[in-house]
Amino acid sequence: MCGIMGYVGFRDTTKVILEGLAKHEYRGYDSAGIAVIRDGRIEDLRTVGRVAQLAEKAERSGFRGDIGIGHTRWATHGGVTENNAHPHISSDGRVVLVHNGIIENARDIRAELEACGVKFHTETDTESAVQYLGHVYDGDPKEAIVKLTKRVRGAFALVIIFHDKPNEIWVARKGSPLVVGHAENEGFCASDPTALLEFTHDVWFMDDDEMALIKREGCEFFDFNGDRHEKPTMHLDWDAAMTNRGAYPHFMLKEIHEQPEVVAHTLLGRVAEGEVDLSRELGWTAEDAAKWKKIHFIACGTSHYATIVAQHIMETFGSFEIRTEVASEYRYRNIPAGEDTLAVFVSQSGETADTLHAARLAKSRGARCLVITNVRGSTIHREVGEALITPAGPEIGVAATKTFTAQITILTLLGMYLSKLRGELDAETEKRLVSAMMDIPGKLASILSQEKDIAATARNFADARGFFFIGRGLAYPPALEGALKLKEISYLHAEAYPAGEMKHGPIALLDKELPVVALVPKGELWEKTVSNIEESMARKSPIIAVATEGDEEIGHYTENIIFTPETETELFPFIAVVPLQLFAYYIARQRGCDIDMPRNLAKSVTVE
Ligand code: AGP
Repeated sequence: MCGIMGYVGFRDTTKVILEGLAKHEYRGYDSAGIAVIRDGRIEDLRTVGRVAQLAEKAERSGFRGDIGIGHTRWATHGGVTENNAHPHISSDGRVVLVHNGIIENARDIRAELEACGVKFHTETDTESAVQYLGHVYDGDPKEAIVKLTKRVRGAFALVIIFHDKPNEIWVARKGSPLVVGHAENEGFCASDPTALLEFTHDVWFMDDDEMALIKREGCEFFDFNGDRHEKPTMHLDWDAAMTNRGAYPHFMLKEIHEQPEVVAHTLLGRVAEGEVDLSRELGWTAEDAAKWKKIHFIACGTSHYATIVAQHIMETFGSFEIRTEVASEYRYRNIPAGEDTLAVFVSQSGETADTLHAARLAKSRGARCLVITNVRGSTIHREVGEALITPAGPEIGVAATKTFTAQITILTLLGMYLSKLRGELDAETEKRLVSAMMDIPGKLASILSQEKDIAATARNFADARGFFFIGRGLAYPPALEGALKLKEISYLHAEAYPAGEMKHGPIALLDKELPVVALVPKGELWEKTVSNIEESMARKSPIIAVATEGDEEIGHYTENIIFTPETETELFPFIAVVPLQLFAYYIARQRGCDIDMPRNLAKSVTVE
C-alpha cells in the first residue's frame, strides 16, 4: 500500500518521478506528492487525487529539481487531505521523506518531540519519523537513520533526502517492499520493480533491517547499525513493454486476454509427453512426499480462491489432508503444523503482509514451506526460498485475472506432481489431465471470442441490486472468484454459495432484483444444480447460466446463457473463470467504475 519512488541522475527528475508514480498507482491513489532539492532548498508539491493531477500541477508551476522523491498514498493514519499527503518535511526544513508502512509508536515519538518543542502539522504516523530525523540530524545522514530505526516500531520503507546532501538518496526498509536500481550516472528506488524496467533490469531488493545510499556514482548497503555490506543484484526478466496497456481501454481487459498465453507459458517446461515434471524447480524426493501427510494452502483474496481450486482438484486423486486457510486467520490460530506438513503460500505480489507473517509462523513450527508467486525476488520468495514462479508477467489491474489462471495451472501441476511422488496418481489420470490442460489455452481463446455476447449479457444486468453466484463441486471455487471480481470493480454486492447451501438461509434474499449466476457444467452434479436454479426461479430471480456447449436443456431455464467448451471435470474452474471476469468487467464498465483502480483497494496489501 502506497507507492514510492526516488531518483538522482541526469534526467528530468520530476518526469521520472511522476511517470514512476503512475506505475505505482495500483498501490494507492487517494493523494500524491513529490519533493525535490532545488538551489539547496527542499521544495514539495502535493495534491489530493491521482498522479495525473499532480503532474498537471507540476506542469503549471514549472516544478523542477535535481534529485527527488515521490509518493502515491493509500491512507491509513489521517484522512485523505493535501496536508496528510506525502512527502513530509521536518519543521526545520532540513529533511524530507516518503513512507510506505505503519509506524506503530508514532504517538509516543510525537509526544516526546512535542515536549522538546517540535511542531507537528499532520495527522499521519509518518510525520513522527521525519520530525525525529530533523531533531537528531547533525550532518551525518547514516547516523540519523540508524537512530531512527532504533526508535521506530512497525513497518516501513522510507526514502529520505537531506537538504545539504543534494546528491544522496537514503532508503531504509523493515517490512515494506523497496527495490533499488542503478544505471550509468543515475540511481533509483521504487516500491515496485516494474517502475525501474525502463532504466535497468539489474536491481537490489532491499531486505528487512537494511538501509542504502543511492548516488549517481553507485549504491552502498548497510545494516541498521550502519555497518556496510556487499549485496548481489538480481536480474529482472520482465520487459518494460509488458507494463503498457497497448490498445486496450483497461489493463484488466488486456490481462484477461493474455490468459491463453499465460496458461501455455505456465505449462512450458513443466509438462511433456503426458507427464508432469517439477523436478527442475523442486528438489523433492518420494521420501519427502511420503513424509508430508498434511498440506496447508495459505493465501489471501483471489490467491486464496486459487488454493480452494487446488484443494478440490487434489482431493479427486490424492490422500493428503488438505486445509485452505486465509493468511490473516492462519496466523492467529493454533493450527498444528510440523515436519509432516507442507505449507504452500500463494501470493501474486509476494508482498502481502498477512501471507508473509503466516509463512514465518509455519516455518517456525517446522513445516516445509513453498511459495507460489508472480514476482521473482519478492519478499516472500526471498524469505521462503523454495518457489514456483508464475510466469504471468506484471499484472497492473488491481483485480487479479491472469495471475489467478497462472496460479491454478501451477497448483494443479503441483498437486499432480506431489501425488505422483507418493505413488497415488495413476498414469492414466496424469495423461488425461495433462492432455486436457494443454487444450486449455485454445479453449480460453474460444471463450474470449464470445466477448461481445458476454458483454451484452452483462450490460443487461448492470442495474441489479446484487448477485448470487452458485456452483457445486469444482464449480464452486470459480463462483467465489466471479463474485469477488464483481464486488471489487463494480461495487455491487455479490456472494458465492455452494448451490446446495442456498436453501439454508441465503435464499431468503432472492427476488427479481437479485440475479443468480449459476455455474452448471455438464456432469454428475448438473441435475442438482438445475434444481437450485429452479428454486431461485421460483423466487423470481433472473438466472444467468454458465453452461457447457451443446447443453440444450439449459435453455428451458433461462435465455441468459454463457456457453463454455467442454473439458475434464477437474478443469472446469479454468474455463468458468474467464467469462466471469468478462461479466464483471462489462458490468463495471456499464456502471462507469474505475476498473483498473477500484476505490478503497490496493493491489499489494503490505499492512496487516
Ligand atoms: C484480487 O483481485 C485482489 N486484488 C486481492 O484479493 C488479492 O488477491 C489479495 O490481496 C492477495 O494478493 P497477493 O496474491 O498479491 O498476495
